[in-house]
Amino acid sequence: PPYRIGVIVGSLSAQSINRKLAKALSRLAPPEFEFFDISYADLPLYNRDFDADFPQVALDFKAAVASADALLFVTPEYNRSVPGALKNAIDWGSRPWGKNVWLNKPTGVIGASTGAIGTAVAQQSLRSTLGFLNARQMTSPEAYIQFTQGLVDDDGTVTVPATEDFLRMYMTAFAEHILRVLTVIPRP
Ligand code: FNR
Repeated sequence: PPYRIGVIVGSLSAQSINRKLAKALSRLAPPEFEFFDISYADLPLYNRDFDADFPQVALDFKAAVASADALLFVTPEYNRSVPGALKNAIDWGSRPWGKNVWLNKPTGVIGASTGAIGTAVAQQSLRSTLGFLNARQMTSPEAYIQFTQGLVDDDGTVTVPATEDFLRMYMTAFAEHILRVLTVIPRP
């Protein structure tokens, strides 16, 4: 310890409710877990022609992912899937073939939307991709957050006690998941 958790927020919006949720989650986690943001906003659109010579920005992105003991995806839902920018980042991390940075990473998936379905469909899509990439996902509990106005205030405090309790439970379970995975697959 401490365990370092890389946070990948699926939204590039400056007002992102998912970034607010991520901040709240970092505050509700057990104290031995610390969080850092993994940025992917500057990645170009991936295609396999880059495989022979990855740009520095992609090498840096992969190094940041590799350095994390675990990853927490906090994503919105765009048209019943994950935002394209997030999928692009995941594709970068998966290549070149044989250099999949997601392999064996302890991983959590959560998200917030303004709609009642709370990113459920996007999360299923993300889970399918992470499953293929052999990340070690926490499959339960799940968390689908409908973000009502003011649910998380500017300093990352959850204003609805039942939601705060639920999110704390989620982060406790995620911490247990990470430690369980790391007993079998040592951290980098
Ligand atoms: C959305 N939104 C949305 N919500 C949802 O529950 N299911 C969906 O499929 C979609 N699709 C969708 C597509 C696009 C292009 C946008 C811009 C929005 C609404 C979405 O939940 C809302 O904009 C959130 O605020 C987005 O999260 P961030 O960016 O605030 O973190």
